[in-house]
Amino acid sequence: MAQISQINNCSYSSVLVVSPSRRPTAPFKAPPSPLLCLARWSHSAPRCGYSLGGGMETRAAASSPRRSLVTSGHLRHVESMAQLPSGAGKISHLNAVILGEALASEENDLVFPSPEFSAQALVSSPEQYQQMYRRSIEEPADFWSDIASQFFWKEKWHPEVYAENIDVRKGTVKIEWFKGATTNICYNALDRNVEAGNGGKIAIYWEGNEPGQDGQLTYAELLDKVCQLSNYLKHVGVGKGDAVVIYLPMLMELPIAMLACARIGAVHSVVFAGFSAESLAQRILDCKPKVVITCNAVRRGPKTIHLKEIVDSALTDCAKDGVSVGLCLTYENQSAMEREATKWQEGRDVWWQDVVPKFSTKCLVEWVDAEDPLFLLYTSGSTGKPKGVLHTTGGYMVYTATTFKYAFDYKPSDIYWCTADCGWITGHSYVTYGPLLNGATIVVFEGYVTRYSRKSLRVLGSVGEPINPSAWRWFFNVVGDSRCPISDTWWQTETGGFMIAPLPGAWPQKPGSATFPFFGVLPVIVDEKGNEIEGECSGYLCIKKSWPGAFRTLYGDHERFETTYFKPFPGYYFTGDGCSRDQDGYYWLTGRVDDVINVSGHRIGTAEVESALVSHPQCAEAAVVGVEHEVKGQGIYAFVTLVEGVPYSEELRKNLILAVRNQIGAFAAPDKIHWAPGLPKTRSGKIMRRILRKIASRQLDELGDTSTLADPSVVDQLIALSDR
Ligand code: WTA
Repeated sequence: MAQISQINNCSYSSVLVVSPSRRPTAPFKAPPSPLLCLARWSHSAPRCGYSLGGGMETRAAASSPRRSLVTSGHLRHVESMAQLPSGAGKISHLNAVILGEALASEENDLVFPSPEFSAQALVSSPEQYQQMYRRSIEEPADFWSDIASQFFWKEKWHPEVYAENIDVRKGTVKIEWFKGATTNICYNALDRNVEAGNGGKIAIYWEGNEPGQDGQLTYAELLDKVCQLSNYLKHVGVGKGDAVVIYLPMLMELPIAMLACARIGAVHSVVFAGFSAESLAQRILDCKPKVVITCNAVRRGPKTIHLKEIVDSALTDCAKDGVSVGLCLTYENQSAMEREATKWQEGRDVWWQDVVPKFSTKCLVEWVDAEDPLFLLYTSGSTGKPKGVLHTTGGYMVYTATTFKYAFDYKPSDIYWCTADCGWITGHSYVTYGPLLNGATIVVFEGYVTRYSRKSLRVLGSVGEPINPSAWRWFFNVVGDSRCPISDTWWQTETGGFMIAPLPGAWPQKPGSATFPFFGVLPVIVDEKGNEIEGECSGYLCIKKSWPGAFRTLYGDHERFETTYFKPFPGYYFTGDGCSRDQDGYYWLTGRVDDVINVSGHRIGTAEVESALVSHPQCAEAAVVGVEHEVKGQGIYAFVTLVEGVPYSEELRKNLILAVRNQIGAFAAPDKIHWAPGLPKTRSGKIMRRILRKIASRQLDELGDTSTLADPSVVDQLIALSDR
């Protein structure tokens, strides 16, 4: 635990929380979902606030609940910021707050960065953003090649910076950035920083889940460890283009393994270590790795989870299905389990500690094409089969590094804190690649935020789901001491990096809005027919142009890639999210419009849960919907029809939940099983989920028209069984 006080002394300056929609009760314990935090040496902003009446006039401080230090400099700042980044003119109608003021709960505030914050920010005004944004859209090739030139490329791209077709009507969807260039993301993240004289800088401060599991690595030390593993992987025959599955908890070995794969051109696929053996097997069957990297066990609270046994079971299943993996590299996680107690398969299993340290700390880099695959990350969609989201090297590198830098207003002296697990995209882009590419110092730990001084926090961030305004205010007032801008970052596994997110020094924020698009991102809102809607509106969020960090395909299934993302609204990338835009041009994400739910920042397809439920021999049919959940954002609510003659019992309920835990993982366990003698279906047999959602959330007066159901009486039966 010594590490925590050391970390505390680091003085952070900004935080990004995943899945922040519900305000935790004090003291703040980091939610089980990831938390990111960027830290920098203290930067205190004076307390000052404004109330803007109509037409930007300043009301007398006395009439405002805020006692303000109003100077002409501050006023000028508010005036200058009130020019909207959307180009929609001036903000005219809302209260305004300068950082340093606590937000009252129900006020409709606009939150301005302090003049001091803006003055030192990378992007310090709406005009500067507009200028850069316009160039990124009008001259994307020049804009991105200027940024890309800050990285090391063995050879430059040719003949074009990018090539795209995102319109299915014009042929196959294709996205390429920096093609023809050769580079290596591990080289850019580690060697480049060491060669620049930063080898002694701390790359990672680590505080694991388990007591005594902490440490730190400088850039030079991290590079050595990565090289040793790279050399070992090469030694056992892993080469460019080979897949490696990584099933590890948040040990330092996890980013080390990712970077080691990247160094030799191997394609990593990290599987979150909360997934069950069946889910792991499904992923292994899909990408057929040469090696699986895991550890023997991990402790979660009082429990020891035998990860290696989960891998054993997955590998046995895969072998039955014709995919055998010849090597399981196992890290001995001593704080959880001794190696003697670990079940072992001679010939296949190898202890990491026995082999990796014997290899050289120097390993030549494999130069890969910018469009060579970097990683696969499986994510949930609307069907039971997870999608292998494929990211390539060059565009992803440039995009994650750039979004990290601007969304956190990163400065080299910053210390950035992140508790995202590398099993999810946030841990790929904003634990591993984005920060290291910027030469940042990362802190990884979970802990009580309010127990520590937060004086030096500079920027807070959130990701994963819509943050409601009251949670936003809590985050702002309590975690950020009313001093730190919040970067509410909207993005997806598919997008690689932040897409719509505040640039903290550049414009005022509205609690709950992700604000404006990042450079190069052209969002549009379309109606049901796919027509673009202008101005203030609600609809489906689409993106109109490719951006460097976009995924390139779904592994092995380009057709599903096109069908899922490009066919619903031809001419656009469809995000699956609903969105509205207000009169000032601010974007407000309203959540998924497809059958994907978001539990504590974990993305889960309702179809996956349904298929796990119906695998139980006594379950005939299941329909799963998301419901609002106090802590998790969304909870999982399952309607279950049993096989004829089987009585509903408490034991069966437990077994159904167990089936989901076993097939997907504990994080996907349904919160409620609702016994359903029948499900509301249309005459063509389609389940009307709209009605189920209303029953699940007890909005019984909003059931809508039920007359099109094959058997409308089902609805009353379900309501009657609600509280069983
Ligand atoms: C949701 C996580 C509102 C959204 C990075 C998206 C958000 C899905 C936000 C992607 C946000 C993410 N505000 N909703 N700031 N960020 N989402 O792939 O529904 O795990 O489509 O990526 O999370 O989840 P994924």
